[in-house]
Amino acid sequence: MSGPSSSANRDAYLDLLKRAITNYLYLGSDEPPEQFRCVTHYELAEGRWKIDPLARPLTLLTRAQLDLIESSVLSVHERGVPGDFIEAGVWRGGAIVLMRALLNAYGIEGRTVVAADSFEGIPKNVRAKNDPVDLWKDRWAASLEDVRGNIARFGLLDDRVSFLVGYFADSLKSLAGRQFALMRLDSDSYDSVEESLVYLYPLLSPGGIIIIDDWHLVGCKTAVMNYRTRVGVSEELKVHDGNAFWIKT
Ligand SMILES: C[S@@+](CC[C@H](N)C(=O)[O-])C[C@H]1O[C@@H](n2cnc3c(N)ncnc32)[C@H](O)[C@@H]1O
Repeated sequence: MSGPSSSANRDAYLDLLKRAITNYLYLGSDEPPEQFRCVTHYELAEGRWKIDPLARPLTLLTRAQLDLIESSVLSVHERGVPGDFIEAGVWRGGAIVLMRALLNAYGIEGRTVVAADSFEGIPKNVRAKNDPVDLWKDRWAASLEDVRGNIARFGLLDDRVSFLVGYFADSLKSLAGRQFALMRLDSDSYDSVEESLVYLYPLLSPGGIIIIDDWHLVGCKTAVMNYRTRVGVSEELKVHDGNAFWIKT
């Protein structure tokens, strides 16, 4: 009797994992996973993004945004782009769970995943004025202990995941000399996105992929456009379900 192929098993594992980290499994009701968003809306009076309080998702990302991580990992792997994977701005660590799972699922050797965060939330802008992110009451804080626990519960906390703890302005410079094939910047504010670019983009290998999460946020978008102009980044920027990305040439 023949069973499912190993690629069918792999796809089923990754599909289930994506349903779990978004908490679609329990809260998606009848809507298809492609339509599910755990954040419903921004409550202006409260200055908060609204999530079902029972949901406790491990990531804010949509299915399409998680799929972009998977296709990017595959792309850099298949093209032999050297380097590790990093997310700068991890919140509860769901995207890190996926990146680490992808190493197993595709049998990728010799690469690790870095989770960089203050683990204390988004700091207020110092350089940027009038960034609406500064009005948010919720700073999206999750502790290192919580994030480690979230990854461990998937059986994925090992020496191929490392944590860089601290505010980007201080912490990211310690990565100098490292090489990354995939970087995902998800820190919302002008200052934080700018700092991520200044310290991380030079570490992206040629052929590597950069994903910017918050393309709908004016501070993030301005920081990216300013950086691209200042440094002369001319690679075509594409947008996929609210995430911007490009391949460094
Ligand atoms: C919206 S959350 C990230 C969401 C996450 N990637 C996910 O999958 O749901 C933004 C994160 O960026 C972190 N962050 C923002 N600015 C930072 C900075 N300057 N230094 C360190 N962490 C920062 C916050 O602590 C928070 O965890």
